[in-house]
Amino acid sequence: MKDQIPAIQSDALARIAEANDSRSLEDVRVAILGKKGTLTQAAAGMRDVPKEDKAEVGQLLNSARQAITAALEEKQVALQSLADEKALEGIDVTLPSRDVPAGALHPLTVIRDEAIGILRRMGFALADGPEIEDEFHCFDALNTPEDHPARNEKDTFYFDSGKLLRTHTSSVQVRTMESTQPPVRIIAPGSAYRRDEIDATHLSVFNQLEGLFVADDVSLPDLKGTLEYFLRELFGTDTEVRFRPHFFPFTEPSFEIDVKLTVKGQAPRWIEVAGCGMVDPAVFESIDNGRKDDAFHPDKVTGFAFGMGLDRLAMIRWGIKDIRLLIENDIRFLKQFA
Ligand code: PHE
Repeated sequence: MKDQIPAIQSDALARIAEANDSRSLEDVRVAILGKKGTLTQAAAGMRDVPKEDKAEVGQLLNSARQAITAALEEKQVALQSLADEKALEGIDVTLPSRDVPAGALHPLTVIRDEAIGILRRMGFALADGPEIEDEFHCFDALNTPEDHPARNEKDTFYFDSGKLLRTHTSSVQVRTMESTQPPVRIIAPGSAYRRDEIDATHLSVFNQLEGLFVADDVSLPDLKGTLEYFLRELFGTDTEVRFRPHFFPFTEPSFEIDVKLTVKGQAPRWIEVAGCGMVDPAVFESIDNGRKDDAFHPDKVTGFAFGMGLDRLAMIRWGIKDIRLLIENDIRFLKQFA
């Protein structure tokens, strides 16, 4: 036994040295340390070793095992680095790498975040509401009568349940006033849906940014000042802005806002970017009827509201001529914003 162990050890070390791939190294390991391996069998012979020799033999066994295990590990590492070297053979590591295309925010995201940033600095907080709405929040509470064209099946996506895809973000005005106390100063960016014929300036899904300010003494100059300031922050201080009288069922008076677009080599033209107006007392009345706490009684509060087309703002900012570019994911278009 005492002579056997050093013999097993030197045989093992020789075989490990000879192994030239990890497969044959594994075979060597099994042949020596495996269940039926030579060293394992020798260790099993311990029980026949006379008592007085047990300590010495045990020590021999241990050091043999340690030496073999260390040699196996060392060889494994050496074989691996050899394999790595081989794998890199023929590869020119000094070649410049291929371009990794840089990602970027979508122009709509950029303009939305900028718009939110400006309005938040003015004290507006973010609000939210569902895109699948009911007729009450989309129309009735906004003083929009049953026979208004916006409620027509031809213009609005209705579900069988009677619910609909909101045609504007103005429904968030209602939801906010239902659930908070005045003063209210909120903005709500989000999608709106209409059964529009799709062309260069219309999509059936588009993006709006709603705004609502309600307090005890909000006036038309507040509305005008807020929106003019906003548009100049967004497009530059010399931006020309125009308020055109218009009609919305939920504001009175109502306006549409145009921004003058000057593109080099083209005649300047006015582009409509938003609808706005002073909240119609009929809207407050409807809220008041639902709440019954008088918080939004039309004698107590006044307010202004606006709804901007975010897609339009993006088109103006970057001179984008066709709104469809914003949803087509054409990499040649999007690359320009990277
Ligand atoms: N909701 C209107 C639209 O989508 C815009 C608007 C919002 C007008 C708020 C007035 C006040 O056209």
